[in-house]
Amino acid sequence: MEIVILPGPDEVARVAAQRVADVVRRRRDAVIGLATGSSPLGLYAELARRVAEGELDLSGVSGFALDEYVGIPPEHPESYASVIRRTVTEPLGLAPGRVHVPDGRAPDLHAAADAYERAIGAAGGIDVQVLGIGANGHIGFNEPTSSFASRTRVTTLAPRTRADNARFFGTPDEVPVHCLTQGLATILEARRLLLVAQGVVKAVAVAAAVEGPLTSMCPASVLQLHPRATVLVDEAAAGRLRLADYYRYMHAHRPAGPAP
Ligand code: GLP
Repeated sequence: MEIVILPGPDEVARVAAQRVADVVRRRRDAVIGLATGSSPLGLYAELARRVAEGELDLSGVSGFALDEYVGIPPEHPESYASVIRRTVTEPLGLAPGRVHVPDGRAPDLHAAADAYERAIGAAGGIDVQVLGIGANGHIGFNEPTSSFASRTRVTTLAPRTRADNARFFGTPDEVPVHCLTQGLATILEARRLLLVAQGVVKAVAVAAAVEGPLTSMCPASVLQLHPRATVLVDEAAAGRLRLADYYRYMHAHRPAGPAP
């Protein structure tokens, strides 16, 4: 795992955007796995800036969101379909028909989950999966005890996640109880993983994911199994890493050539 400690959220956004841009430069029709939440917003804004300034063309790119709430309509402002449209598809100039979000209103959610897996496969798999991390160590909506073998499925949001996400809804009770999420095995199949985390609120989860045991109690620890996983954290999110100096040394002395 590559761990990069950066001074602040702006640097996290810049380095993350560079990594995504590198993937797209190698493959114009790259498939990007899209996370929602506040963590990747700086990355998306930086990509949008590069697109607006003509430095980067993302018009050939496809996207697959990690997850979606069950039971709220896609036009709800906090559905991930809306959030992805607002924060990714429009500002980055992606072709709307190439941006996919699980269908949280499907009459048969299990069939919708299976169809989503097939769609990722049909697109050739995900080239780079952007990830945030929940304060409880979740990635996507894979909550603690999610199997490392899990695929896209309907599942239940942890009370902590519902409380954390209540800020986006009128009242905590309005936060949906269920969701569709790519599974941990689905995420592991992406060719690259790029996890971004900022702020002291993520420090415990980041330390558990990077330095803790491989355990479904911290779903993000699954990154330890991936051959090309990068974790970009700011100083605050790195605050609980015991081996921070070691990561700084390793990054300063990384082999020459492109990032892994
Ligand atoms: C959300 C999303 C995750 C996200 C995480 C952290 O609920 N489902 O994909 O990474 O929780 O959110 P934030 O980045 O807002 O802290």
